[in-house]
Amino acid sequence: MNILIEVSYLFASILFIFGIKRLSSPKTARQGNFLAALGMLIAIIVTLFDQHVLTFEWIIIGFIIGGVIGVLMAYKTPMTGMPQMVGLLNGFGGGASLLVALSEYYKMKNFTTWTFNDATNITIVLSLIIGAVTFTGSLIAFGKLQGIVTGKVVKYPGQHPLNVLLFISLIAAGIFFVINPAMEILVISIAVASLILGVLLVLPIGGADMPVAISLLNSYSGLAASATGFVLQNNQLIIAGALVGASGIILTIIMCKGMNRSLLNVVMGGWDSAGSTATAVSSSSSPKGQVKSIDSEELAMIFDAAENIIIVPGYGMAVAQAQHAVRDLVNLLESKGKKVRFAIHPVAGRMPGHMNVLLAEAQISYDKMLSMEEINDDFPNTDISLIIGANDVVNPAARNDKNSPIYGMPILNVDYSKTVIMNKRSMNAGYAGIDNELFFYPNTLMYFGDAKDAVAKLTQELKNL
Ligand code: TAP
Repeated sequence: MNILIEVSYLFASILFIFGIKRLSSPKTARQGNFLAALGMLIAIIVTLFDQHVLTFEWIIIGFIIGGVIGVLMAYKTPMTGMPQMVGLLNGFGGGASLLVALSEYYKMKNFTTWTFNDATNITIVLSLIIGAVTFTGSLIAFGKLQGIVTGKVVKYPGQHPLNVLLFISLIAAGIFFVINPAMEILVISIAVASLILGVLLVLPIGGADMPVAISLLNSYSGLAASATGFVLQNNQLIIAGALVGASGIILTIIMCKGMNRSLLNVVMGGWDSAGSTATAVSSSSSPKGQVKSIDSEELAMIFDAAENIIIVPGYGMAVAQAQHAVRDLVNLLESKGKKVRFAIHPVAGRMPGHMNVLLAEAQISYDKMLSMEEINDDFPNTDISLIIGANDVVNPAARNDKNSPIYGMPILNVDYSKTVIMNKRSMNAGYAGIDNELFFYPNTLMYFGDAKDAVAKLTQELKNL
């Protein structure tokens, strides 16, 4: 039986690894998700046979309650609310690691046969610290994105020394615990101090930087699970946790690179103005000039004459849920013999792959979605760049203005195309809270309106021609 269990765990781990590999491309992501879910199902079934932790009645009760809450949350959460949903789920993972570590501690302590050893003690401490930090940190991240906790960067005197002091005290308490596991007060102090540290670490991070923080917390939740795997001596949990830990940190680094920010700058609350307001932060160097706007009728004529079109979707397309209207426009343009492609910036929207998921939901083929590296050189040969609810990811200030907070961030070179059509509702800024000089460029035409309505109107006018 034991060998069967270990082989099943190994098989489930292989499915996880292949699943994650397939997640690296939108084309194979669904299949990757399925493989990983299958691995998880095998792991759960095997664990139920292997570990006699609870009675099956309790497991079924937990399964039903958790399952119902999970399904309701999944259905009720809009696409734009996904980052906070992921944040909350990370927190539950961290909380579970914390509870398992506590329960294992009390189980061992209350057994007549003393089973503590250094290795177990170290992993209990790690599970407690990482699990608790992930739990409260994720709850704060969720609260910031949901508007329950202030989204502003919270700073106070002595903040960083206090965090460092708390962290050093935790390490010291952890070492004492490993030497003397019978001291119950140490376990409780470590858990409580870690819960406080989680709050203090995430509070200074601005609401707009939360997606990066959530990705980092995701990595922590993996590390916590891995540590718990050592406590429970469960190889499957160790492997799965390590995979989550590694992929979470890789994703965090990709997001930081896409915004040209260092991880330290994000976690120290370095970007004060980001996302805190929808109105651009004006400065003496703010771009000024004539803005040219266009209506749907005139725009339809420009599109009718164009051959080569690139669509740049952004956060506004997600907010407006305009992806289906965009698909209808693309189908019409293609039926008129035009070449239409999508340029996807790595941090367009509010989470990795945000745009790909939305476009795929509208049955737009993955072949049409090109990454920034693939398409950036094609803009000079493009008749129209149609920007739908994107802003920062096409802001030329990232190339031209050394004083801009987004200076150095790689952007889509839409301004090199013959005509730039910018669809948004107003002159307001995007996530970075800064002006966009593109609005004032001679080849830019502003097409104001909610993305879904505006795109539908354009399609209608094109049909009327
Ligand atoms: P943003 O720069 O945030 O701009 C979105 C624009 O959409 C806004 O300027 C807004 O202008 C417009 N908009 C909002 N609702 C709309 C609607 N219903 N119809 C039409 N337009 C609408 O978006 P982006 O260009 O996608 O850039 C993403 C930003 O998020 C980057 O700064 C990036 O660093 C940051 N970020 C991304 C991620 C990931 S992983 N994707 C993670 C963290 C941070 P109006 O109000 O005038 O309409």
